[in-house]
Amino acid sequence: MYDELIIPSRVLLGPGPSEANARVLKAMTTPMLGYLDTAFVRVMDDTVALLRQVFGTENRLTFPVSGTGTAGMEAALVNVIEPGDAVVVGINGYFGGRIADIAARCGGDVTTVEAEWGTHIPADSIADAVTRTRPKLVALVHGETSTGILQPLDEAIAIAHEHDALFLADCVTSLGGQPVDVDARGIDIAYSCTQKCLAGPPGLSPITFSERAGDVIRRRKTPIQSFYLDVTLLEQYWFGTPDVQQRAYHHTVSMSLIYALREALRVVMEEGLAARYRRHELHARALLAGAKAIGLEPAAEEGYRAPMLTTLRIPEGIDDVTIRKGLLEEDGIEIGGGLGSFAGKAWRIGLMGESATERNVRLVLNALEKRLFVVRKAFG
Ligand SMILES: Cc1ncc(COP(=O)(O)O)c(C=O)c1O
Repeated sequence: MYDELIIPSRVLLGPGPSEANARVLKAMTTPMLGYLDTAFVRVMDDTVALLRQVFGTENRLTFPVSGTGTAGMEAALVNVIEPGDAVVVGINGYFGGRIADIAARCGGDVTTVEAEWGTHIPADSIADAVTRTRPKLVALVHGETSTGILQPLDEAIAIAHEHDALFLADCVTSLGGQPVDVDARGIDIAYSCTQKCLAGPPGLSPITFSERAGDVIRRRKTPIQSFYLDVTLLEQYWFGTPDVQQRAYHHTVSMSLIYALREALRVVMEEGLAARYRRHELHARALLAGAKAIGLEPAAEEGYRAPMLTTLRIPEGIDDVTIRKGLLEEDGIEIGGGLGSFAGKAWRIGLMGESATERNVRLVLNALEKRLFVVRKAFG
C-alpha cells in the first residue's frame, strides 16, 4: 500500500513552475465534460477570447496546444518550416538553442545569430543574417529564462518583415509578466506556457498565428510532419472550418487543464495587464536592490533585464549546490541553478505570476543573506 500523497511545502522562486493561484487549483477539480459537449465548447471559446486579450491579438488562430512550452515551440516550427527553408534563430541562451535544434529537425536550413549569455542580441547582427540568407522565418526568445535577458523585438520584427519573413517570438516566460502585444508589434507567431507568469499548472502552451502565418501554412508544398501538432487539424477542433461549420474531434484535450487556464486568465484580466506588468517590475527592482546590498551582482546586461527572472552571479568561493540545497530542504524555498555556461556561476530567481510578491522578495533575500553569512564566516 502507498500512503496518501503528501508533498512538502515550497515557495517556488525558480525559473518555473511558479505558484499556481488557488482559484486555478480549485478549477482543476471541476468534473470532466465530453470534448465536444456544448458546455465544454463554451469553456473553450472563453479561453480563446481571454487568451487573445492577454496576447494582445485578434488572431483567429489563438488557442492552447496540449503540452508544455516546448510543445508550443514545436507546433510553431513544425507547421511553418518545410525541408530546405532558410530560418534565422537568435541564440543568447539555452532556449534559443532549443529553437535552432527543433528548426533543424524540421529540415530547416538554420542560420544562428549568437550573442554571449547574459547579453541581448543586437538588431544589426539579425539584419546581417536576414539580408544574407533571406529566411522564411526569424525566431527570437523574448524572455530568455536561462540568462534573465528580455530581448528587444521591434527592430528585429521590422527587419524580418522588410525581407518578407515571418517573425516568431518565444513568450514562454514573458506572457502575463511583460507586454507581448502581438498585433501592435506585428509578431506572426507567439507561444507561451501556463506555469510561469500565468500562474497555472504546467501542461498547456498558448499559441497564436497571424493571418500571414496561417497563409504560409496553408500554402505548404509538403505535409506537416506532426499529426498531433498540425494546426490545420487543430483549427477544426478549436474553431470549426468555414466550410465545415461543426468542430471535429482531433485528440482528447485535458478538460482539467483548460478549466485551469480559463481561471488563470480570468485572474490575470481581473488584476489588469498594466497592473500585473508593474507588479513584476516593482518586485524585480526590489530583489535586485536587496541582492546588491548583500553582495550579489546581476548576471544579465543592464537595460535588458527581464523582471520575472533575475540572474545573480554566485560569488567566488560559494558553492552553488550547497546554498540551493539548504534553501530548498531547510527553508522550503526553490531557486534555480544556472544552465549551460551559467551552470555553477549564476542563480536564477523567478518572481513570476503569484510568486511575484513583496513577501517572497524578503523571504528569499533573508534566507540567502543568512546562508552567505554562515559560509563567509566559516571560511573567513
Ligand atoms: C524561454 C523558454 N522557452 C521554452 C521553454 C520550454 O518550456 P517547457 O519546459 O514548459 O516545455 C522554457 C521553459 O522554461 C523557457 O523558459
